Amino acid sequence: MSKDNFTSKLGIVAATAGSAIGLGNLWGFPYKAGTNGGGTFVIIYILCALFIGLPVMLAEFVVGREGRGGPVGAVENLTNSKKSPFVLGGYMAVLTSFLVLSFYSVIAGWAIHYLVTGLTNGFSGVANIDTAKYFEVSSNNLGMQLVYQDIFIFLTATIVIFGIKNGIERLSKIMMPLLFIIILILVGYNMTLPGFKDSLSFLFAPKSIPADKTFFEILTSALGQAFFSLSLGMGAIITYARAVSDDMNINTISIQVIVCDLIVALLAGLATFPIIFSYGMSTGGGVGLAFIALPVGFKSMPFGYVFGNLFFFLLIIAALTSSISLLENSLTFIIEKMKFNRKMATIVLSALLMAFATLSQLGFNYSSSLLSFTGGETFLDQLDKLTMNYFIPIVALITTLLVGYRLDESIVRKQINNDKISNIFIPYVKYVVPVLIGIVLLSGVIG
Ligand code: PHE
Repeated sequence: MSKDNFTSKLGIVAATAGSAIGLGNLWGFPYKAGTNGGGTFVIIYILCALFIGLPVMLAEFVVGREGRGGPVGAVENLTNSKKSPFVLGGYMAVLTSFLVLSFYSVIAGWAIHYLVTGLTNGFSGVANIDTAKYFEVSSNNLGMQLVYQDIFIFLTATIVIFGIKNGIERLSKIMMPLLFIIILILVGYNMTLPGFKDSLSFLFAPKSIPADKTFFEILTSALGQAFFSLSLGMGAIITYARAVSDDMNINTISIQVIVCDLIVALLAGLATFPIIFSYGMSTGGGVGLAFIALPVGFKSMPFGYVFGNLFFFLLIIAALTSSISLLENSLTFIIEKMKFNRKMATIVLSALLMAFATLSQLGFNYSSSLLSFTGGETFLDQLDKLTMNYFIPIVALITTLLVGYRLDESIVRKQINNDKISNIFIPYVKYVVPVLIGIVLLSGVIG
C-alpha cells in the first residue's frame, strides 16, 4: 500500500482535480447547457455542485479513507458485510464507471482525431459553416474512430499500469495549469467577438425552459452533470481516498477541487458560446457542440494553429487524467475480488472496454437500428442518460445513507476532523442531501 500512497497534499489535490476536470467540463457542460436552454440549467448546476456535490464528495472521502478500499472493498470493510444494500451500491459504482469509460473513450477519440486534423492543417479546408458537417462525417467514420478510441484506451491502460504516484501525480501537476491558461486565452479572445454579450446572458440569466424540455428534465440533467463532472457517484473519490494519509484535510481538498472544477466548466462555456453566437450556430448542437464550435474559434484567432493544437493536446491529457481514475475504479475491484495482478487486470479490462465502446461507435453508424432503444437517440446518448441521470445519483444517494446512518458518528467526526464542519455535515448528510437527491431522481422518473 505505502508505495501507492499520495506523497503530498498537492499530489492528492492534483490527482483529484485531474479526475474531476475532463471531458465533463469541456465537452459535457457546454453541450448540456446548450440543449437545456442555458441560464436555468447553469444556475441549477452551480447550486447542485455546491450544495449536493460538496457533501457527497466529503462522504466519499470519508468512506474511502476509513474503509481503505475500492468502491466495493471499502464498503465491505466498513459494514462488515458482503451483501448489504450499501455493498450493492459499490457494485453499481463499478459497473457505472465501466459504462462511462466506454463512451468517454469515444469522445476522447474525437479529441485525438481533432488534434491529428489540426496538426496536419486539416481544418484549413473546412469552412466555418461546415464544421458541423465535418464533425458528423468524421464521427460516422467507424474504422477511423475505432482506431482513435482504442489508442485512447491503450494510453489509459499504459498509465494505469505504472501506478498512482508515477503516472498520475506527475501528469496532473504540469498539464492542468497549462490547460487552464489555454482556456483563459481562448476566453480572452472570445471577449472581442460580437457574440460575447449574448453568450453571457444565455449562460447566466435564468431563461424560460426550451420547448422540448420540462423543468424536471433540466433538474435531472443538471444534477447528473454536476456529479459526473466532480467524479462522484462512481466510487472514484473512494478509490483515491484509500491512498490519502490521515493527516490530510479532506474538507479543504474537497472545496478546492469543486471550485476548480466549477471554474473550468464555466470557462468552457465562455470558450464555446461566444463562437456559437458570433457565427450564428445553434446552441442546441448536441453531443458535438464543442467540437463544432472550437475549431471555428481557433481558426479565426491570432496564432490559432498553435493554440488550437495545444488545446486539443491538453484536452486529451485532461481526458486521460479522468479516464485513469475511472479505470482505476474497476481495476481495484478486479484486483480485490479476483486476485488478478495489476497488469493482468488492466489488460483484461482494456480489452473488454475496447469491445464495449464499439457499441457506442456503432450507434453513430446504425442509430436507427438495434442500438437505439428510446427512439432516435444514439447508443452513446442513452448510456450518457442512463448513467448520469439514474445510476450515478443512486450510488451517490447510497453513499450518503451509508455515511449518515450506518457509520458511527465518531468515525465521521474523526475523518472530518473539525467540530464546526462535522456539526453541520452530519445532520446535513442525514436529512438534507438524501432528500434532495431523492427529489431529483423522482423528478427524473416523472419528467
Ligand atoms: N469528472 C470527469 C470529467 O468531468 C469524469 C469522471 C467521472 C472521471 C467519474 C472519473 C470518475 O470528465
